[in-house]
Amino acid sequence: MAPGAPLSRSSQFTTFPRDPRGGPTHARCSRPAPGRCHGSVPGACLLRLAPGARRGSMSAGLRFDGRVVLVTGAGGGLGRAYALAFAERGASVVVNDLGGDSKGHGKSSSAADKVVEEIRAKGGKAVANYDSVEAGEKLVLSALETFGRIDIVINNAGILRDRSFARISDEDWDIIHRVHLKGSFLVTRAAWNRMKNQKFGRIIMTSSAAGIYGNFGQANYSAAKLGLLGLSNTLAIEGRKYNIHSNTIAPTAGSRLTQAIMPQDLVDAFKPEYVAPLVLWLCHERCQENGGLFEVGAGWIGKLRWERSLGSIVREKNHPMTPEAVQDKWEKICDFDNASKPRTIQESVSILNDVLSQIESEEVSMNPTSYTRSASSGFDPSKYVGQKLPTVVYNYTHLQPILYALGVGMTTKDPDHLKFVFEGSEAFCCLPTFGVIPAQASLWDGGLASVPGLNIDFTKLLHGEQYLELYKPLPTSGPLTSESTIADILDKGSGALILLDVHTYCGKDLLCYNQFSLFVVGAGGFGGKRTSEKAKVTVNPPNRTPDAVLSDVTTVDQAALYRLSGDWNPLHVDPGFAALGGFQKPILHGLCSFGFAARHVLKHFANNDVTRFKAIKVRFVKPVFPGQTLQTDMWKEGNRIHIQTKVKETGEVAIAGAYVDLTSTLDKPSVKNPIKASGLQSDLVFEEIGRRIKEVGNQLVKKVNAIFQWDITKDGETAAQWTIDLKNGSGEVYQGPAQGSADTTFTLSDQDFMEVVLGKINPQKAFFSGKLKVKGNIMLSQKLEMILKDYAKL
Ligand code: NAI
Repeated sequence: MAPGAPLSRSSQFTTFPRDPRGGPTHARCSRPAPGRCHGSVPGACLLRLAPGARRGSMSAGLRFDGRVVLVTGAGGGLGRAYALAFAERGASVVVNDLGGDSKGHGKSSSAADKVVEEIRAKGGKAVANYDSVEAGEKLVLSALETFGRIDIVINNAGILRDRSFARISDEDWDIIHRVHLKGSFLVTRAAWNRMKNQKFGRIIMTSSAAGIYGNFGQANYSAAKLGLLGLSNTLAIEGRKYNIHSNTIAPTAGSRLTQAIMPQDLVDAFKPEYVAPLVLWLCHERCQENGGLFEVGAGWIGKLRWERSLGSIVREKNHPMTPEAVQDKWEKICDFDNASKPRTIQESVSILNDVLSQIESEEVSMNPTSYTRSASSGFDPSKYVGQKLPTVVYNYTHLQPILYALGVGMTTKDPDHLKFVFEGSEAFCCLPTFGVIPAQASLWDGGLASVPGLNIDFTKLLHGEQYLELYKPLPTSGPLTSESTIADILDKGSGALILLDVHTYCGKDLLCYNQFSLFVVGAGGFGGKRTSEKAKVTVNPPNRTPDAVLSDVTTVDQAALYRLSGDWNPLHVDPGFAALGGFQKPILHGLCSFGFAARHVLKHFANNDVTRFKAIKVRFVKPVFPGQTLQTDMWKEGNRIHIQTKVKETGEVAIAGAYVDLTSTLDKPSVKNPIKASGLQSDLVFEEIGRRIKEVGNQLVKKVNAIFQWDITKDGETAAQWTIDLKNGSGEVYQGPAQGSADTTFTLSDQDFMEVVLGKINPQKAFFSGKLKVKGNIMLSQKLEMILKDYAKL
């Protein structure tokens, strides 16, 4: 909905059902709190209050002290609301307004003066400017002369000259373009170099739903308003490296422009104050949004983006391209199933390279699904699912874990990191995520590439997701053996998703399990299933502010360093190759960002104790460029740490739906470092059992397959609890109650325990005499004897 379009009140209502926000019903439900979720608005993703900002307060939290803001057309409506809100939060404001009527006739100083008075009366800083935005430089000069700088430009001034298309005069067309599009250009250009030099700038362009969707009677206005989006998109790209961000809003608010066309109750309900908080957030130095487009009104905010159908190739090699071919493929061209969402011009045109090579190789031409493997291609995933790949042996010394640690950003600057980068450190150990390195060898030569008939085009292979589970800490050297199986192949339409399960062993000991989710672009459409029960799934983080945030700057050579751990794809180092893939420069390996995120969790929540790391799952969403800052947001929910990794400079999410599972310190200290109870004799026995179980390892776990909990009493009170876990991983003994649940729990005194262990009384006798109490599966106690006897023999 845009101002001025429908020319009468009754016709105005007919436009509401088209409104994607649900029309008057929601509009009337005015929720004054900026940035809160509005449950009744479908699909709405709303702004969250920044930490520290008090709900309902306009002056706490995000401040603009020292910032100079120029708001054009600030004599009324939306502009006035922005000017007041910025001033209330400490900014110095240039209140610009020409003071003419809504069609652009006349001028006056009173509109701007009134707003300046209002601001000053509240103790704020403001100056009036009465120039037309067409005199761009004068407006910026007024900011520089009065306040000495310019930080933020809100291009808001606007008028309407609504006419049905055939009746639009040249003047109606020109004045709308001069005020909206050229005015915004002139004002912004006047401020640009200042922003560039000070390496800070925030720009808002005011577009309109009339531009985005079109609106009857507003051809001139629609054209100018969507022009502003194009202008902003390019400024966002050119300004990025100078920390100048440009965003576009399409507001809905009751104002002078809309009061002629909206019923009064809606004018009142859509307050300009419900738009201003978005503008303030977008202009704050903390906000990394750049090049965004937002619809905003009535207390609701939604973000828009482009969607593109999968499309269809309509040309054959050595044949002319015809309109009939276009007609034949029309349905497919317009089919939004499996649509993509290109965000950059590079992403947009990258498909064309594929199209050319597909036509050239006559692989796919004129087939009904184009760009995908057709159902008639004979591709039958069941031939491959379950197929084992050749076993891969990975030999390494201490060098590889160190190289890997450096590759994922560990540094000697942090004393905590020494144990990961110095083999002479007493606690020298491997980062848990090093577990992907021996496994990834299965993907390359002799691995996935060698499966006859699978014909994967490795230039179209994207790493979609990764799951890693560790069963014991990784050794710092060794040969490790990885066995890989194609767990499943899914048809995602625009591509095939291969789930590759890799189990990695040290001798016979299972060390870790990886699941690689590999997306082969263009290999879908073979009529296969879309989901698999074998897939390790991502989990969204809780809907609250993160419990912890850690960031690390990657170096410009991060990818060049990381690849030395064994991922040789030139995409990460060769600019020419990266350009072919549609990237402006080489990108960081997804698994490198994954390493950063995992060690952020390990540091913050596990004190860098690798024995506490159980598993990690991530989805790779957007590429990261070396040199960018990775920010990991973390939410703790029990022993699960949900994570999301963003590129700090752009605010774009690189890793989503991710989590790390840890073991708990309180419940489960390592045997090496047990919390001493109260000097009980049984403590030593349990420690010794733990040592022996480590030696025997998997065999015992297979034989016993149970978790035993011991409650050891002294003087009638429980004095210690121990768990012997012979079910998970390769067996472990730890102090404290069983994690999850014990199969059998034994209660007996410290002294009786020693008698049983030393063979002075047998467990059955102890049980029948009431010295030993057993809860849970009593039959399992027979298996326990095996362990105790083993100890007694020592
Ligand atoms: P408004 O009429 O209350 O405010 C516009 C202000 O711009 C007026 O105070 C006017 O004097 C000033 N102005 C006009 N020409 C100027 C010029 N050449 N130089 C300097 N100042 C000039 O209207 P409203 O609704 O607050 O509009 C603000 C902006 O939001 C406009 O760009 C409008 O197109 C846009 N918009 C508003 C919507 C709404 O629902 N209110 C919907 C979509 C877009």
